[in-house]
Amino acid sequence: MSKIDFLKTFIKDKDVASVTPTSQHCVKKVCTNIDFSKDIVLVEYGPGDGVFSRYLLDKMTPGSKLILVELNEDFYTHLRETIVDPRVEIFNIRAGDVQTVLEPSLIGNVDYVLSGIPFSFLNKERKKVVLEATKSILKEGGLFLAYQTSGHLKKPVMEVFGNFETDFIPLNLPPYFVYKVYKNAV
Ligand SMILES: C[S@@+](CC[C@H](N)C(=O)[O-])C[C@H]1O[C@@H](n2cnc3c(N)ncnc32)[C@H](O)[C@@H]1O
Repeated sequence: MSKIDFLKTFIKDKDVASVTPTSQHCVKKVCTNIDFSKDIVLVEYGPGDGVFSRYLLDKMTPGSKLILVELNEDFYTHLRETIVDPRVEIFNIRAGDVQTVLEPSLIGNVDYVLSGIPFSFLNKERKKVVLEATKSILKEGGLFLAYQTSGHLKKPVMEVFGNFETDFIPLNLPPYFVYKVYKNAV
């Protein structure tokens, strides 16, 4: 998708929340938290035009799985038309409903959830719904990675997961905080 088409999607839908796809610099930096040396199950919320998804697929083993959860219909259609890979499944649903579409065997067995959705647009209850759903699908020790424009996720993440670290990536439009949150960190 061109940058102009991305911008048009943003103009039509406020939940897109960004005028341009994440920079390659930021994609690489966020993905340094992922161990690509083994088969993994990764769920991505808000893949947009697939800037992270394509990078992930380049790095992931043939036995890995990538599940894309995208609310915007234009992005969903674009992803379906452009990402054809046996490791990928794509759903046009809200992130908070992820557990309704995952194969039952994957619930509690997801290694990573990567999220670009604008949590700041969700009210307190919806934030909690998404975070609880995320915790329910992750395996013990699994990692939730969320790139966000502000520090507003600290409190809800602490309430649901009890831990977080953040990193700041200034070289992106917009600059992002990256939350790194473990399920049942030891
Ligand atoms: C800031 S953009 C990030 C797009 C892309 N991942 C990137 O890095 O360029 C946020 C994305 O989240 C999607 N989104 C917003 N709310 C969502 C929700 N509740 N569930 C799933 N996707 C959502 C938007 O449609 C958009 O694709």
